[in-house]
Amino acid sequence: MTKPDWYESGFPHIWLPYTQMKTVTPPLAVSHTHDTRIVLDDGRELVDGIASWWTACHGYNHPHIRAAVATQLELMPHVMFGGLAHKPALTLAKRLAAMLPGDLDRVFFTDSGSVAVEVALKMATQYWLNQGVRTRHTFVAFKGGYHGDTIATMAVSDPEEGMHTLFGGLLPKHHVIDLPRDESSIKAFDAFLAKHADTLAGIIVEPLVQGAGGMLFYDINALRHLRAAADRYDLLLIFDEIFTGFGRTGTMFACEAAGVVPDIITLSKALTGGTLPLAATVARRKVFEAFWSDAASHALMHGPTYMANPLACAAANASLDMFEHEPRLAQIADIAAALETGLAPCRDIKGVKDVRVKGAIGVVELKHIDDLNDLKRRFIEAGVWVRPFNKIVYLTPAFSIGAEDLDMLTTTVVEVLKKI
Ligand SMILES: Cc1ncc(COP(=O)(O)O)c(C=O)c1O
Repeated sequence: MTKPDWYESGFPHIWLPYTQMKTVTPPLAVSHTHDTRIVLDDGRELVDGIASWWTACHGYNHPHIRAAVATQLELMPHVMFGGLAHKPALTLAKRLAAMLPGDLDRVFFTDSGSVAVEVALKMATQYWLNQGVRTRHTFVAFKGGYHGDTIATMAVSDPEEGMHTLFGGLLPKHHVIDLPRDESSIKAFDAFLAKHADTLAGIIVEPLVQGAGGMLFYDINALRHLRAAADRYDLLLIFDEIFTGFGRTGTMFACEAAGVVPDIITLSKALTGGTLPLAATVARRKVFEAFWSDAASHALMHGPTYMANPLACAAANASLDMFEHEPRLAQIADIAAALETGLAPCRDIKGVKDVRVKGAIGVVELKHIDDLNDLKRRFIEAGVWVRPFNKIVYLTPAFSIGAEDLDMLTTTVVEVLKKI
């Protein structure tokens, strides 16, 4: 198929994510998006099963979000956040504080998920430094976890399962151990803390679902155990809700399902409804209070150039409106039921190891995938945008997806997997 001019002339200059450029399967040329559809330059239309890494939770080009961004664009696309404040950011901070559980009410904006996690780690470390404690600067993180691609976030992601094995020798040393989810892992976790707590700043975890690590689900008891352990040893508990936040697991935030309030929470992805890059690191009052001082050196030492970008904050405010105006949590429950029913036939397909659903996340885990590129190609030929990774085929559709499109997604997954 011929490619448009902009593709032919620009592709030799682009470097793609997680891609061996020498053997790359050329990406599809996209012309535009609408609702839950991706329209290709050659006119084909794909039903999107993953909502652009689960950001576009209300579907693409949502008119309410578009209008909010357009209005903001006229007023002020950007202004620095040092020494200046603006309505979209302060309104968003107030709304996030009101939505989040407990006293998670101090919001620091950044521009990507990884940076939000970097800020959380820095916040937790400086929390101790500001109190004169210089020994607590390492973190406990979990196997299967993923927190981003920057140096510090790689260091708290699973070194084996993640994409970062290569950098092992270069990364700061933290402790990546088993989640305390059964008798023996709970015992090991407790013993670990008893031995190392004095050197730890905190614990970082993706609550309920470890996403990029393999769409691994675990239950609320592990989160409760983490909260109790953090309290016992006076550790800061960081929930990375960049994937799970804004309804994806069935409650607005995954921490709500467990009734656990973390000390710091990170948010991004669906924050702007998939429109513009924005992230937030939100701290509880006791964390913020450790920075409240007459000493300038106790200030949080971070400040990205594009932090709190007004367009992105306007998009996020409009996205929160959608959660208020539309029955999103009910839709997520419906999607969960449809994913359960629609993906159930996969259980009878040879080579399928597990089928699982949590909220608007449907996962088919295979024993192995022989040819990932071939599988991706089959999905495209069948008219859906589904991107399997490792041994996982997953669906994380927009919450606004119609029953027909959702049925098309699950049916296609079943049919394609039957054929490989
Ligand atoms: C749980 C989690 N944390 C952090 C990140 C990193 O976010 P970003 O890609 O915006 O840097 C991701 C991205 O997939 C994620 O799923």
